Amino acid sequence: MLFQLGTLGFSIKHINLTHSPPHSPSTHLPLSPSTHSPINNTMVHILHLDASPRGARSVSRTLAKEFITGWKEVCSTGTVTYRDLGHSHIPFVSEDWIAAVFSDPAQHTPEQAEAIRISDELVDEFLAADRYVFSIPMYNFGIPANFKAYVDQIVRVGRTFSVDDDGYKGLVKDKKMVIITARGGTYPEGTPFYDYDMQAPYLRLIFGFMGITDIEMIHADNLMGGDDAKATAITKAQSEVESVIARW
Ligand SMILES: Cc1cc2nc3c(=O)[nH]c(=O)nc-3n(C[C@H](O)[C@H](O)[C@H](O)COP(=O)(O)O)c2cc1C
Repeated sequence: MLFQLGTLGFSIKHINLTHSPPHSPSTHLPLSPSTHSPINNTMVHILHLDASPRGARSVSRTLAKEFITGWKEVCSTGTVTYRDLGHSHIPFVSEDWIAAVFSDPAQHTPEQAEAIRISDELVDEFLAADRYVFSIPMYNFGIPANFKAYVDQIVRVGRTFSVDDDGYKGLVKDKKMVIITARGGTYPEGTPFYDYDMQAPYLRLIFGFMGITDIEMIHADNLMGGDDAKATAITKAQSEVESVIARW
C-alpha cells in the first residue's frame, strides 16, 4: 500500500513493533571478524543517534540497535557514543545563536555564548566520531523537526563547512555514515511517489555539504502497508543491516 498522499490522513494504526524480529540479533547477524571490512576497525568510534520519539515500537530505532549490536560483534574494541534525539530537546537557532556563529568568540555576550554552547557540544561530538549510525523516521515526506533542529546546530561555518571565493567546502572528511529510515509509505523510482521523498535526498545533500559522501541508506518502507508488507520490509532492512556491517 502506498502512503495516502492525497489526504495526508495516514491513520497511524498501532504497528506492532514490539514483535520479535524474525531472527534474534545473535543468529541473524552471524558475522565474524574475518568477514569484516579490511579497514582497521579497532579504534573506530561511532556516533549512534536515534530520532524517533517512539521507544520499543520504533522500527528505525530497533534497526539501528540491531546494527550497533551486530557491529559490536565484529568490532568489540570499537566505541559508541549514543544520542537520543527522540527523547531530548534540541533548541532551534535564535538571534543570539546566529550572531554568535558569525562573530569572534572573544566578543560574544553571555547570551550569545550560551546560545552556541549546545551547538559547540554537538559539533564536538559529531567531529569526534569516525562513523555515524543515524536512525530517522520519515515525517511529512521529510525529516522530523527534532532532527532538523540537530542539523541546524551542527552545520557550522568554520567547523563543519567553510566558505571562500571558491565556494563552500565540507570539512568533515574520511567518515562513513549509515542512515536507517522508517517510512509508512514507499517511494519507488519511476512512480509518481518518488518525488515525494524529501527525506533521503535532503539527508544526502546536507551531510554531503559537510563533506560526508560515503553514505549507506537502509529504508524500512511501506510499514503501513499491512502486516505482511511490514514484516517483509523489516526483514529486508535487517538483511541490509547485515550486508552493510559486513562491508563497513
Ligand atoms: C507525524 C508523522 C508523520 C508521518 N509522515 C509520513 C510521511 O510523510 N510519509 C510516510 O511514508 N510515513 C509517514 N509517517 C509514518 C512513519 O514514517 C512511520 O510510522 C515510521 O515507522 C516512523 O518511524 P519509527 O517507527 O522509527 O518511529 C509519519 C508518521 C508520523 C507520526
